[in-house]
Amino acid sequence: TYVVTDACIRCKYMDCVEVCPVDCFYEGENMLVINPSECIDCGVCEPECPAEAILPDTDSGLEQWMELNAKYSAEWPNITTKKDAPDDADEMKDVEGKFEKFFS
Ligand code: SF4
Ligand code: F3S
Repeated sequence: TYVVTDACIRCKYMDCVEVCPVDCFYEGENMLVINPSECIDCGVCEPECPAEAILPDTDSGLEQWMELNAKYSAEWPNITTKKDAPDDADEMKDVEGKFEKFFS
């Protein structure tokens, strides 16, 4: 399973949505998450994200984001079509502490 991390917050480029063969992304106001029971582990979304927000759950230290993806993919609506990223997505890319400041 692949996991969306906090680097997605307020960047939301949605290039990932376009390439996912099983449409397993779910959309919150400021970030997307992956449904871990639907992801087929193909890995094609990882290199597509300009914010490098998507990682395999085999990486260490991702527990917080694994829980967040599982929780919110059950609550948020499915997204299957790419929309426009926020106007300030590029400025938000390297901002630290986005989860504490902007998560929703
Ligand atoms: Fe979709 Fe593949 Fe990315 Fe999983 S790894 S979210 S199936 S594109
Ligand atoms: Fe987020 Fe990257 Fe997708 S910023 S919306 S995970 S392309």
